[in-house]
Amino acid sequence: MGGDRTLFDQLAEYAAGDMYPFHMPGHKRNMPQFEQLYRHDITEIDGFDSLHGASGILRSAQERAAALYRSSETYFLVNGATSGLLAAVGACCRPGERILIARNCHRSVYNAAIMHQLCVSFVYPRPLKTPGVYGGVAPEDVENALSDRGIRAVVITSPTYEGVISDVFRIAQICHAHNVPLIVDEAHGAHFGLAPECPASSVDAGADLTVHSVHKTLPALTQTALLHVNGSLVDRERVAYYVSAYLSTSPSYLLMASIDEAMNMVELEGGELFARLGHDLSEFSHEASGLRHLSLLNQTVNARERERCAVAGWDPGRLVFVSDKAGGKEIMEQLRREDHVELEMAGMRHAVAIATIRDTEEGFCRLLNGLQRLDGRIGERPDLPPVRAYASLFGRAADMTQELPCINVSAAVNAREKRRMSFDEAAWRRACCAEFVYLYPPGIPLLAPGETISARVSEAVRECRAEGLFVEGLSDRSGKTVLTLP
Ligand SMILES: Cc1ncc(COP(=O)(O)O)c(C=O)c1O
Repeated sequence: MGGDRTLFDQLAEYAAGDMYPFHMPGHKRNMPQFEQLYRHDITEIDGFDSLHGASGILRSAQERAAALYRSSETYFLVNGATSGLLAAVGACCRPGERILIARNCHRSVYNAAIMHQLCVSFVYPRPLKTPGVYGGVAPEDVENALSDRGIRAVVITSPTYEGVISDVFRIAQICHAHNVPLIVDEAHGAHFGLAPECPASSVDAGADLTVHSVHKTLPALTQTALLHVNGSLVDRERVAYYVSAYLSTSPSYLLMASIDEAMNMVELEGGELFARLGHDLSEFSHEASGLRHLSLLNQTVNARERERCAVAGWDPGRLVFVSDKAGGKEIMEQLRREDHVELEMAGMRHAVAIATIRDTEEGFCRLLNGLQRLDGRIGERPDLPPVRAYASLFGRAADMTQELPCINVSAAVNAREKRRMSFDEAAWRRACCAEFVYLYPPGIPLLAPGETISARVSEAVRECRAEGLFVEGLSDRSGKTVLTLP
């Protein structure tokens, strides 16, 4: 397989040729900016297959990706893991049916439930001590939730944005014992299962549908993703239908070629590249363990907390920095300003960096130098004050009573009558929320439509804003008011 002619090879040959395009795209492969990129951007012309019902070069490319992940079937997606999750949920559940989703699912899973008019039950992942960081979904919590016989599918996120892995193997076994398919949002783990240095993938762990954002952790263009289909619980025709329904009728060949090139690189050089990354990461972790006031999150969680919080593993490529003396935003801003290192995201008390096979030794050195300088500077400071409301919001696994859903998420979004009021008034009335409130990233709702607006939600939103984090989803961009159900 390795070294077969890739989609890029064929596009490159075409780009070098003299074929004149009286067809889409309108740039006619003739633009001075990004010249080479435009020259390779085509539509479904002769010899280039069609992603809707692939039977030629695109089919071979998808089969090659399937073989790499040991998946029975794999789809290329050009609208992100978002479209894969929409399709996966749509394929498994019909309108009015019930789905069990982990409360820390990405908003696309909530949107899938809303668009397919599903009833939603939640399983709450176990929160870690770091405010706003979830641990894993405990298999026994899934087992308990599945005592509701009406559930048609389960969706969990593993790994999380912070690299926490749930026991997908055990959760898949439990779902299958109930004849229910398991959808795993493995958007952040497209590298899983590709080398001995990588954690096992959900495909290997028995998930029925696994969604990968190729662009997040493999060398591919933004928006590229994969959907893997396995087992016999999911109707494959429904999967094909919804993948196609959520796919542009003009999928970009640049994006598809970019997925194919990433697969080709992993196939040809993956062994060496992942071994080098593994080596660089263990050196980095070793050096980082010498920091006094900054730590890598996985080094701060002991075996007891791991067990209590259902952490089955960590993605070694996810570097999560925590400190009692500097918030996530400060860590991120300092590295940007002084070291020209841009991290992936900042949370209330943590900051996240993503390491991949395209990182360089120089990059790791710069990151480490920046952290060492910050570490030296913050030592004399007092500890940051505790984060109260926001942290307790994530403690919901233990305390779910305050924001319990008053009505279903789909019904709340689709309600005709909505009322706008201040957060304080909404909290005082314990009103039912009619819109999402989330931080982006990670795009996990602090509050979902249909949930009760409590005083701690209102306080948590205030805390996030005070910390300079982006609270999104609210139609009032000032964030002062919220839409509620009357
Ligand atoms: C857990 C998770 N799932 C899904 C997505 C959506 O991925 P994409 O941006 O590829 O559509 C994201 C995006 O950040 C995510 O964090």
